[in-house]
Amino acid sequence: MDISQLKAKFNELYGEGDVRVFHSPGRVNLIGEHIDYNGGYVFPCALEFGTYGLVRKRTDKKVNFASTNFDLKVSIDLDNIVYKKEDDWANYPKGVMEIMKDEGFKLGGMDILISGNIPNGAGLSSSASLEVLTAVIVDTLFNDGKADRVELVKISQKAENSFVGVNCGIMDQFAVGMGKKNKAILLDCASLKYDYANVELDDYTLVIMNTNKRRALNESKYNERRAECDEALSILQNEINIKSLCDLTIEEFNKLEHLLVKENIRNRAKHAVYENERTKKAYKALNEGNIEEFGKLLTDSHNSLKNLYEVTGRELDTIVYEALKVKGCIGARMTGAGFGGCAIALVKKDSVENFINQVKINYTSIIGYEPSFYLSGIGQGTEEVI
Ligand code: GLA
Repeated sequence: MDISQLKAKFNELYGEGDVRVFHSPGRVNLIGEHIDYNGGYVFPCALEFGTYGLVRKRTDKKVNFASTNFDLKVSIDLDNIVYKKEDDWANYPKGVMEIMKDEGFKLGGMDILISGNIPNGAGLSSSASLEVLTAVIVDTLFNDGKADRVELVKISQKAENSFVGVNCGIMDQFAVGMGKKNKAILLDCASLKYDYANVELDDYTLVIMNTNKRRALNESKYNERRAECDEALSILQNEINIKSLCDLTIEEFNKLEHLLVKENIRNRAKHAVYENERTKKAYKALNEGNIEEFGKLLTDSHNSLKNLYEVTGRELDTIVYEALKVKGCIGARMTGAGFGGCAIALVKKDSVENFINQVKINYTSIIGYEPSFYLSGIGQGTEEVI
């Protein structure tokens, strides 16, 4: 639906009147996977597609939520915001409102219509998109839009951690809230210092490949990986003064890895340390216009996520390795939490059509159902649409 259709839908639901429109993107991570919670560097960017939020103030303390994607409508009282399983997607904006209330933001009643273009369960951060959207709406409508954007990003992450109960790092909300057109963000997750990089890929373009395998059951695996990293960290902290795994250089890690006796724990830590180095190298390669090197680092990252971190699975491995077999593809990797969802491939512009056909045929014959492909540019972070 375009904006005028969405406005018509809003008026049909809530009655005629003024309506304000906001947009919040999805995100894709170029490299730096599973290290935001290990104090490492990540390198994500915002997508052009995302989530629209249409909103109008009310005079009472009620917030009504509706969506063009789901039939479920939810209505809450701002004085009593509680997590309810049956409220499903509305728990994300509810969580953000509750945390904002706790942190002293003003809030008031609203009628809200949400409309998302991010494929659900694809690992392109539809939930972070909705969270930051909510934070920006509340800040703009009731607090003069003065809040620091990074503060809104942190609130959104906190809502997901403590209200929804998913122990994610800060990458997704940061990419969504701080994204800039045509730029990727190199974010140091330990200090939250960041730098924008131009994504100029020369004759190449990024293709997002959705395995269409939903990321079912991955929350428990995600928390398991976090716990394994914490275990590695506490063992290493007996020997060296570090705050997180990504404080280690590769040389330091190589000297200390014998302390990590359990193979899985050693592998998880090794991935974190090497992935952190790869991310810095990828940023440098991109800045220097060395696209071949950038592509190679993407593939190295996937191999490490497969062999050391063990978060890929049959569908992601199939799509990545089938992609790499096609002429014109110079790098590919899973992106996001893993176990399903999306991968990215760096493909020569004039080979994209053939690339998509080939990967589709080969993936479908191995896995038994079709993947999807998206050619999104790099979009802008959450903003009001005038
Ligand atoms: C999910 C989490 C992020 C990050 C990635 C893996 O997307 O929400 O915080 O940990 O997985 O890099």
